[in-house]
Amino acid sequence: MAAPVKGMTSFELPLPGGISPRLVITIDGEPVPGGEWFKVDFIKGSDVVFHFNPRFAEQTIVRNSNLDGCWGPEEREGGFPFVEGQRFELKILVEEDSFKVAVDGTHLLEYGHRVGGLEEVTLLLVKGDIVLHSASPSMI
Ligand code: GAL
Repeated sequence: MAAPVKGMTSFELPLPGGISPRLVITIDGEPVPGGEWFKVDFIKGSDVVFHFNPRFAEQTIVRNSNLDGCWGPEEREGGFPFVEGQRFELKILVEEDSFKVAVDGTHLLEYGHRVGGLEEVTLLLVKGDIVLHSASPSMI
């Protein structure tokens, strides 16, 4: 899907019909050595309802929403399981009240929904310094 060199991967996964509880997005990726960041964005129109942004220099996963053009308060607590050059499996489960995130089978964090209208979240964007092996939706 992307060449294993430093550079910007950008992949859009359409989510026809939007998202709803029990939908899981599975991302098989690998941070590029020397890379700075990547992000997984759940997009509703011009809003980003969930921005999941691992930053390697800070060793922090910044989470936020961009609503009506404005970023809200960042959520930064918790660990940083991503390692440059090391393949990972990221799973993001949509629940009634939150997104639940696990990496390599271990629960990592939750992000409470800040807005409704999940059925209008029709696009997932994966972008940044990773090799993306796959990104796919499934239901549990
Ligand atoms: C900003 C950054 C955005 C986004 C946001 C999250 O500083 O430019 O891309 O990551 O933080 O709060």
